[in-house]
Amino acid sequence: MTRRPYIVGNWKMHGTRAMLSEARAIDRAAQRHMKVEVALAPPFTLIHPIHREAEQISVGAQDCHHADGGAHTGDISAAMVADAGAKFVILGHSERRQDHAEDDALVRAKAGAALAAGLRIIMCCGESAKTRESGRAVAFVKTQLKASLPSPDDVPADLAERITVAYEPIWAIGTGNAATTDDIAEMHDAIRHLLVELYGEEQGGAVRILYGGSVKAENAAEIFAVPEVGGALVGGASLTADSFMGIALAAG
Ligand code: G3H
Repeated sequence: MTRRPYIVGNWKMHGTRAMLSEARAIDRAAQRHMKVEVALAPPFTLIHPIHREAEQISVGAQDCHHADGGAHTGDISAAMVADAGAKFVILGHSERRQDHAEDDALVRAKAGAALAAGLRIIMCCGESAKTRESGRAVAFVKTQLKASLPSPDDVPADLAERITVAYEPIWAIGTGNAATTDDIAEMHDAIRHLLVELYGEEQGGAVRILYGGSVKAENAAEIFAVPEVGGALVGGASLTADSFMGIALAAG
C-alpha cells in the first residue's frame, strides 16, 4: 500500500446509543495507530453522537439522497449528514442496490450530491456469485463502476482525496468466505486501470481501492499484502473495537 491505509467500519443497521462505548474504544485505539486512517459509518442516528466525541476517527453515512431537499419522506440529504458531522458517505453498496433497487444512474446522482456537499465518497461495486461463476466478474464490475462513478467532467480537482472505491463481491459479504488474494488482485488491477483511463495517471493512480467481504483480523494481513489493496470496508468485524482494531493493526 503506498498511501495511508484506510480502514472503514460499516455498522449497517446495527447500533443504538449503547454502542457509543465501542466507538469510543475504537477512537482511543486509533489514536495509538496513526499510520492507519480509521473511519466508522454508523446508522444515521449515531453520526452526530460519535462525531461529537471522536478525536481521531472520521464518521460517515451509509447513504444519502441525490436531491438537496424536498418531499422525500424518510430520506436524508448529503448536506444533512454533513451537518451532523459526516465527512464521507458510502454509496452504491450492494445492500442498497438490492434492497432499494438503486441503479447505477441513481448512485452516480448521489455521488454528485455528496461531492457538492463537501463529502468524500466511498463508491462500492461488486459482482454476484452467478456473475462470478459465469466468468464475467471483471467486465461486470468495470461496467458498474464506470456508470456509478462521477463522470470525468464532474470530478473535483482533489478527486483522489475525495473518492475511494470499495470492491465487495456480494457472495463474500457476511458469509465468512472472503475472496482469494488472486481474485482480489485481478479485480483491483482491473479497477486501477479503469480509474486511470477515466481520471488520468496521476489522479486515477492515487485513488484508494478498498476490499470488503468477510475481512477479519485473521485474514487481513494477507489481503493487505495485495499490491492494489488500499484498505478495507468492514461489516461484521467492525462492531467491536477488538476485532475492528485487529484489522487496522494488520494494515499498519
Ligand atoms: O460494507 C461492508 C461489507 O458489506 C462487508 O461486510 O465484513 O460483514 O462481510 P462483512
